[in-house]
Amino acid sequence: MRWSGAELACGLVFLIACGLGVRGGGRPDPQPEPLLVLTGNELGFIRPCGCSKPALGGIHRRARALAELRGGREIGAVSLGNLVIEGGRQQRLKFEAFLMALAAMGYDALVPGPGEFRLGVDYLVDEASRLVDVPFVLANAFRGEERLFKRSLPLPRIGAVLVGLVPEMPEVHGVRVAAPADTLRDLVLELPPGSLLLVAWMGEESGLTALAEAIPEPRRERVLFLIGGTSDIPRALGSASGVAAFSVGSKGRDLAWLLAGESGLRIQSRRLAETIEPDPDVAAILEAYRSSVKDEEILKSWPRAEAASVYVGNASCQECHSGIVEQLADSAHMRAYATLVATGDQYDPECIACHVVGFGDRSGFVDFATTPELVNVACEACHGPGEAHAMSQAPTPVGKVGSRHCVRCHDPDNSPQFRFETYWPKIAHPRDGGTGR
Ligand code: HEC
Ligand code: HEC
Ligand code: HEC
Ligand code: HEC
Repeated sequence: MRWSGAELACGLVFLIACGLGVRGGGRPDPQPEPLLVLTGNELGFIRPCGCSKPALGGIHRRARALAELRGGREIGAVSLGNLVIEGGRQQRLKFEAFLMALAAMGYDALVPGPGEFRLGVDYLVDEASRLVDVPFVLANAFRGEERLFKRSLPLPRIGAVLVGLVPEMPEVHGVRVAAPADTLRDLVLELPPGSLLLVAWMGEESGLTALAEAIPEPRRERVLFLIGGTSDIPRALGSASGVAAFSVGSKGRDLAWLLAGESGLRIQSRRLAETIEPDPDVAAILEAYRSSVKDEEILKSWPRAEAASVYVGNASCQECHSGIVEQLADSAHMRAYATLVATGDQYDPECIACHVVGFGDRSGFVDFATTPELVNVACEACHGPGEAHAMSQAPTPVGKVGSRHCVRCHDPDNSPQFRFETYWPKIAHPRDGGTGR
């Protein structure tokens, strides 16, 4: 059976009727229909970096958009996790900022995904999940015999029950993941037959079919799959073996919601453009996060790898390549550090990485006090650590520099317009190497 025509309408009526039931016995609804707001899969993008225009997203803009959407309506709001994608101190600070923002926005639940688990199971269970009053919902993750989070959560305002499921996460230690399909089947069989079940699946879209097939067929029309990650923008995914599925988009650039209307259940969304005024309370949470990154000196403790040679800074190139050094002095690359200082982002490794020389290499940029000569996208950001070359004119470590060296920084998120053919002419420097020979 597919979600179409009559079945779909029936599901919707249920969604609306249930919301009504809560308020007053199925009389015509004087208020607008309830909405289910869905976000997730931010992948670490808590705010736009401003590297390119349009600068989309940011939880401070989301908060404003959500308040506007809410108006006088009943709203359920669920985060589908993967707010962050990796572990480490900075990611924990960021996750905590996300959590405080979710609480400030009145979210009903967070379904943690593999990204959150990489922060550490003990941290997630014993610290993060207790930080704010937003329940974590996940049915199939255990520490020993102990289920880590709420198995399911009723969302009375929209008349549904939320369930979260993660796939196997071999990279995460200290968590046992029960088979998602079995977990779902058991849950469905326990719930009263009319229940509308929202299943947040924190895995790949390809896993939906197996989940759907675990649900006895007549019950499938009372189930919706919600998923992060499979699309850039929020959209309906069609149906997986008779279960309607929706994806919430990614990188926090949109606010998405499910709306029951006459023609069926639709996913709608709003792009979080710069024209949306930031919400001051959530902006303050972002500001506090920025301060913590600075105060904890995350830059200094960043892991560093051995590099081919040692970075020496532009002054060492000046002696023999004064022509090029002077020519590039006015280029955008030589303003890259000042750009960060202007917004107070020079302490954030996630910004520094592309706005200085050799960040993450042993002799590369540490912080301004330690390595002032390595600010900006200077010579060695492209040509590699130059000590050996400066001393003995050994070939530079990188050799011929080309587009592939640019896209390390000019990636699709930070420089969507980048094309070598149009960008290189703006910073091209002479083939004679400026040595004058
Ligand atoms: C992956 C590399 C990368 C990271 C990480 C990065 N940037 Fe950038 N940034 C760039 C590139 C490349 C440009 C130039 C884009 C273009 O013009 O196409 C840029 C441009 C900018 C600009 C615009 C400068 C101007 O005057 O036009 C700002 C502001 C900026 N970045 C701030 C940040 C902040 C803040 C962060 C951290 C949140 C950050 N960047 C992280 C690569 C990066
Ligand atoms: C003592 C003089 C001297 C210093 C200092 C020096 N260079 Fe050079 N560099 C040369 C000469 C001479 C050549 C030309 C060699 C050739 O054409 O074979 C050259 C060639 C180059 C080349 C092209 C050939 C290659 O190996 O890639 C690059 C790139 C380069 N230099 C970058 C740098 C950078 C970056 C610095 C600073 C870290 C620097 N140079 C410092 C003298 C110097
Ligand atoms: C280490 C990271 C990094 C690398 C490598 C890099 N860039 Fe950039 N680039 C930046 C950043 C950051 C900016 C923005 C600087 C600012 O304005 O603050 C930028 C800005 C630019 C701009 C100015 C854009 C504009 O319209 O004003 C051009 C042009 C450019 N880069 C070309 C290149 C080319 C070509 C390469 C490869 C040969 C390259 N970049 C390699 C980080 C990098
Ligand atoms: C944004 C990346 C980038 C930066 C920054 C940069 N270069 Fe280059 N450089 C290139 C590219 C790309 C080429 C062209 C490579 C080619 O044609 O083989 C080049 C070519 C050169 C050459 C000539 C190589 C040859 O064989 O003729 C020299 C010398 C050189 N750069 C030195 C410098 C010096 C000195 C600085 C700093 C003042 C600098 N570069 C900054 C990307 C960069």
